[in-house]
Amino acid sequence: MEKKELIRYAMNAREYAYAPYSGFQVGAALLCKNGKIYTGCNIENAAFTPTNCGERTAFFKAVSEGEREFECIAIVGGKEGEMTAPSPCGVCLQVMAEFCDAGTFEVIMAKSEDEYTVKKLSSLLPYGFSLG
Ligand code: THU
Repeated sequence: MEKKELIRYAMNAREYAYAPYSGFQVGAALLCKNGKIYTGCNIENAAFTPTNCGERTAFFKAVSEGEREFECIAIVGGKEGEMTAPSPCGVCLQVMAEFCDAGTFEVIMAKSEDEYTVKKLSSLLPYGFSLG
């Protein structure tokens, strides 16, 4: 799967973002090792803390469908009508670390299909929490 294609999935998912409070709309597309793709968007809430990020929506959809092995995730986002290349928040990185090999799992932060940065999870979360 081309990175470009995964980014397109993330862009489509962003269309469903529910972000009436921040106006910051995020889309994510998670590629499983078996080739399946799970998408997610951010879902905000009037009480703020129940808000779920786009990345976690994608992960939770995948994990709840039985997926456990992941290759990479593409993330797009920005204020309505804008595109930045958002890097995942600490909570999302910790969720990724729960299910992914940090040395190989790739995080694709995209501004467009052609402008993106790819980082290994280990470089974004070098000292993630673990129970031992
Ligand atoms: N957000 C994400 O969806 N992913 C991130 O990694 C960081 C932030 C969302 C949460 C909230 O709905 C909005 O972006 C502004 O923080």
